[in-house]
Amino acid sequence: MTEKMAKLTIGDKSFEFPIISGSVGPDVIDIRSLYAQTGMFTYDPGYTSTGSTSSAITYIDGEKGVLLYRGYPIEQLAEKSNFLEVAYLLLNGELPTRPQFADFEKTITRHTMLHEQIVKFYSGFRRDAHPMAITCGAVGAMSAFYHDSTDITDPRQRQIASHRLIAKIPTTVAWAYKYSIGQPFVYPRNDLDFSSNFLRMCFAVPAEKFEVSPTVARAMDRIFVLHADHEQNASTSTVRLAGSSHANPFACIAAGVASLWGPAHGGANEASLRMLREIGTPDRIGEYINRAKDRSDPFRLMGFGHRVYKNFDPRAKVMQETAKEVLGELGVTNNPTLQVAQELERIALQDEYFIEKKLYPNVDFYSGIILDAIGFPTSMFTAIFALARTVGWVSQWREMIDDPTQKIGRPRQLYVGAEARQFVDISAR
Ligand code: CMC
Repeated sequence: MTEKMAKLTIGDKSFEFPIISGSVGPDVIDIRSLYAQTGMFTYDPGYTSTGSTSSAITYIDGEKGVLLYRGYPIEQLAEKSNFLEVAYLLLNGELPTRPQFADFEKTITRHTMLHEQIVKFYSGFRRDAHPMAITCGAVGAMSAFYHDSTDITDPRQRQIASHRLIAKIPTTVAWAYKYSIGQPFVYPRNDLDFSSNFLRMCFAVPAEKFEVSPTVARAMDRIFVLHADHEQNASTSTVRLAGSSHANPFACIAAGVASLWGPAHGGANEASLRMLREIGTPDRIGEYINRAKDRSDPFRLMGFGHRVYKNFDPRAKVMQETAKEVLGELGVTNNPTLQVAQELERIALQDEYFIEKKLYPNVDFYSGIILDAIGFPTSMFTAIFALARTVGWVSQWREMIDDPTQKIGRPRQLYVGAEARQFVDISAR
């Protein structure tokens, strides 16, 4: 079979590079020999055209609005599966059989407690610390506690680190919340399912009986499923880059938490709900749409737009339905934020600016409304995203370390600074 080749012409010289096909999606040009052949690098800030790795975990077709985890459409997983099953799928490549699932559930629940000394670590934070600040610090701190799972050359240790991270992140996030509101930590209860246990750790108090609503637990679980992985986004690429130096796995996931925090990424759910509340009533939507379109105004419609989705975000559709269901079942009628969100979506989708730039509501547009209805403050939204995405980060980290051809990530640059010059003594400057 003849290999497909891409030809690059620079001046009067031509160079050839292999074209590689994946299972689905666009082909890529393998430019690994570009520098050796031409003495030049590629220039692609923001990686808009750069494939940084091959991966068998998640597939996105941004034009068609398709998201697949290990080949399964997100809509089917959101409707028929649950977060732990999805976690198994992302980590291992296949849906579990009943015994495999039971075994996985047992393993994860066995690791839900945090080392008791980590409890003391929390009290080092100011009481009004943002839950993402605490989560980032606490996950990083785990690297100092679990030495028997940090030898990344040992597959069994890699597996234990993965299980620990997935099991401990709900406790970490719930405790970040409890700490920030001055309530006692609630320890995990392993007879509850993953999402109910998380909700209980967030909302139960020792003085009162707490029962998890199945509707709320289901909505929580669905939010986790929808956020579990999203191929090579900023935080996942951060985890891969950190891990490519063979760093401690807990520290790599802490790097992912840090990257996710930004408002252009996971922080958008918090920013989106704040924006919807600021708009307040549908009659003020026009003003905000005009600001979003004004190039001299840095304001953007939060929860709109995506680097990859240019048709619709399939997660946003499921999220919108879930928002309606949850508000309905919780008896929240005439929710003003939902009304503003629906009207904003309707108006923006008819607006020439948003049509031309292919800007659609993304996953974060509706998730905040659900989390708000469940009772979470906006400061918890991104930490909940981090909880779910830990599964994706861990799966992607493991896939990278498992790859025998894996190299340290080391991008190059176009240098535009001063040319070599002589040092001038301070007395002469
Ligand atoms: N409101 C108004 N204009 C926008 C928006 C928006 N939300 N998003 C993009 N644009 C415009 C932007 O000004 C630019 O216009 P021009 O071509 O005239 O300069 C054009 O659309 C392309 O935008 P870009 O910033 O070059 O596109 P990008 O792929 O680099 O950015 C994005 C993608 C998600 C960062 C961006 O759309 C954005 O800032 N959205 C708001 C924040 C948000 O909701 N983020 C969550 C993303 S989904 C969850 C996640 O990934 O964590």
